[in-house]
Amino acid sequence: MPKRSSFKKRFSFYLLAIGSACGLGNLWRFPYIVGENGGGAFLLIYMLLSFTIGLTLLIAELMIGNSRGVSVLAASEKVSSETKQPVFVFGWLSLLISTLTLAYYSVICGWVLHYLTQFVMSLFQIDPAFYLSKMSVNILHHNGWLQFMLASVHLIVTVIIVVKGFEEGVERWVSYLLPLFGLLVVGLLIGSLSLDTTTDVLRFLFYPDFSKLNWNSLSHALGHVLFTLSLGFGTMVTFGSYLKKDESLPIIGLRVTVVDTLVSLVAVLLIFPIAFSSSKNQPLTDPSLLFEVLPRFLSAYKGGVLFGLVFFLCLWLAALNASVGLLETITANLVERRPDLKRSKSAIISGVLILFVAIFPSFSSTLFKNLLISGHSIIDFFDIFIINGLLPLAGIGMVILALKAVDAKSRYQVFKSEKSVTSEKMYTHWEFVLKWIVPSIILFGLFFQGIGWLVKP
Ligand code: PHE
Repeated sequence: MPKRSSFKKRFSFYLLAIGSACGLGNLWRFPYIVGENGGGAFLLIYMLLSFTIGLTLLIAELMIGNSRGVSVLAASEKVSSETKQPVFVFGWLSLLISTLTLAYYSVICGWVLHYLTQFVMSLFQIDPAFYLSKMSVNILHHNGWLQFMLASVHLIVTVIIVVKGFEEGVERWVSYLLPLFGLLVVGLLIGSLSLDTTTDVLRFLFYPDFSKLNWNSLSHALGHVLFTLSLGFGTMVTFGSYLKKDESLPIIGLRVTVVDTLVSLVAVLLIFPIAFSSSKNQPLTDPSLLFEVLPRFLSAYKGGVLFGLVFFLCLWLAALNASVGLLETITANLVERRPDLKRSKSAIISGVLILFVAIFPSFSSTLFKNLLISGHSIIDFFDIFIINGLLPLAGIGMVILALKAVDAKSRYQVFKSEKSVTSEKMYTHWEFVLKWIVPSIILFGLFFQGIGWLVKP
């Protein structure tokens, strides 16, 4: 990770921010969340929220980091002592969310690693169908130790990268692999869109049937927007603090939002035609959707094993890049707060703590199978509680921090900076959405979710 204010090349910043945004959230989580919430209407709400709430908060987070030059914890503590208001809780909330998320994210990255190893082994099999037949999430579900071990491998690699300062190396690798990944995705997209289920899928995705929404849909859409754009974690605050002062934050925010939303759209266009054509009557609402659908589809093609291997390798590297960003944020926060703590030590301590937390989602379908929290397994609860519950609260925290940490004149300057093509009018719109729309939608989302919880059959 470059030192503060050293982003000479704007391209590296884009790699960092887009690399953090595009990960498992887009390819793994988004499709089944769309399935769970009935398709078109949800997709429409998601897109609207991305470009209103998401973009506005993204600019706000970059702005906090850029103007204060520190990460979210230090920024919130400074503001607390300046204003004598307890806004430091939002800094701690973000840090808590990042820690819990990385634990849970590592378990899913472990699933990707499992598929990757299965594809590697299939390569050496005379009958690749043998291993492909073993590629079921059930194997993982029945083996908590396997999940924990794979999550540990992923976390250890993440810690090593942050401790050794290899982040730039990883970014470079990811940037080399990006075109390849893009090609694979386009290839898959052509394959999946030529299936005869495409018309049904297009209707499912682009015809908004609002009757399919449920009480939770608004908070699901909102939570996913925050998760996929890495908002509420303090990640974008840290990245903003690395950025030079004269960059145009609104333009950067817009580009990151556009790319991330496009990647999510491609993901659903890729997964759903295959899922719809599945003979196994694939449920669209299950977290195993990507993992069940893709290998089965590939097994029908010659060379599918090699294709799957490279695809899952790219997917893992993208997820690794996102994990590195998350651990980097946690480490930066801790080091700023305790300058006597060395970076490496702080990354290792965080890694050990996160590994401990990862025990819970890893064993959620085995050892802790009977431990249900309001009807949800631990891993589901992690997902729902963090993404649909805590993240929106952190979003409100970011609104308050942006308004208190950056004075009105500086906020205005961000929109008026020399390089920027944005105007005063945009500033007024942005501030209106930040002050009024973001908190209202978040509160509505949480309120409806509460109703959904009460009326649950
Ligand atoms: N945005 C990432 C994704 O979509 C997840 C993430 C959140 C990564 C926060 C880093 C920080 O997969």
